[in-house]
Amino acid sequence: MDFAIVGCGFIAKKHAKAIENVADAKLVAVSDKIPEAMTPYVEEYGVTPYTELDEMLQEKDIDVVCICTPSGLHAPLAVRIAAAKKHIILEKPIAMTLEDTDRIIDACNENGVKLSVVHPNRFRPVVQELRKILDQGLLGKISHANATVNWNRNQEYYDQAPWRGTKEHDGGVLMNQAIHNIDLLLWFMGKPFQVFSMEATRLRHIEAEDVSTGLIQFETGALCTVETSTTVYPKNFEESITLFGEKGTVKIGGSNALFFEHLEIEGMSDKKVAALKEKIKKDPWGTPGHQWIIEDMVHSIKEDKKPAVTGEDGRKALELVLSFYESAKNNKPFQYSKERAYANN
Ligand SMILES: NC(=O)c1ccc[n+]([C@@H]2O[C@H](COP(=O)([O-])OP(=O)(O)OC[C@H]3O[C@@H](n4cnc5c(N)ncnc54)[C@H](O)[C@@H]3O)[C@@H](O)[C@H]2O)c1
Repeated sequence: MDFAIVGCGFIAKKHAKAIENVADAKLVAVSDKIPEAMTPYVEEYGVTPYTELDEMLQEKDIDVVCICTPSGLHAPLAVRIAAAKKHIILEKPIAMTLEDTDRIIDACNENGVKLSVVHPNRFRPVVQELRKILDQGLLGKISHANATVNWNRNQEYYDQAPWRGTKEHDGGVLMNQAIHNIDLLLWFMGKPFQVFSMEATRLRHIEAEDVSTGLIQFETGALCTVETSTTVYPKNFEESITLFGEKGTVKIGGSNALFFEHLEIEGMSDKKVAALKEKIKKDPWGTPGHQWIIEDMVHSIKEDKKPAVTGEDGRKALELVLSFYESAKNNKPFQYSKERAYANN
């Protein structure tokens, strides 16, 4: 299956490596507005470079295009790529607004192409184990949860390119860094009912937020606190999700939510807990996330099924980020829908 990449910056390298590592996938073309950005790909993979995307899209053999441009450009590019009947792997966040997101999803549906959003943390070993624990109902009723992404992105990081830290093309810590954690939180906890958040730009010279704190009440009635920042001195401190259930307490944590930091479940022996923790420690990253996403797209096309992480999943994560922004702006709770109630289960 022939792959192409549009936007040859930092994350494109991971896509190219992942494509190389997947049987049945081959990188054949790249596109970027800056010709020099494509040179390493031409040299390493022997691909054809295109400064004009439309020219690349005329290549009949290209099956899938990975979109790796600044986030504010995801929607206009995705709509053009879908119209050219190419399947799409879209970097996170899916887009910057729900209107743009719906344009992308509609364009993919209308043109019969598959859409996968890059939220690869779902495939990490510890996350898969926690998903299994939840699927088996081992935690019982969840009373509340806690999510953190306390990382460091210094001023040099934001100064690398003019789009970084802008509200139009990037967003702040929630939209850029924490959206992966938010995707996991939603995957574990279900639909939010309302949120209340505060945000600030404390230490970085950027337009968007570098720190945010918030509360979520889910439709189940479960509560959650969320704390995210890119201001931590001097390096990434912690990414975590903690779930408190009537029959168990689980925290996945470390600097990138890769390990079981706490695991206590009714009826689960100390031996089993230790074995599970050890298994994760041996291979915390598992298959690289981008490779998972590429492999999944190949299978989705061959078997004509939906990708594991869909446009709708990307939309849910974006919707939660935007609801945090809305609440912070208006200094009041944001209710997802006045008609929707929360249960107590
Ligand atoms: N999944 C992850 O873990 C992860 C990590 C980093 C970045 N990202 C996402 O990937 C995207 C890109 O981030 P990055 O850090 O690689 O950015 P970057 O600035 O390093 O690279 C962006 C590239 O896009 C090119 N570009 C800009 N406009 C273009 C256009 N109209 N047509 C073609 N090319 C164009 C630029 O010249 C540049 O080479 C963002 O959406 C970001 O949120 C995801």
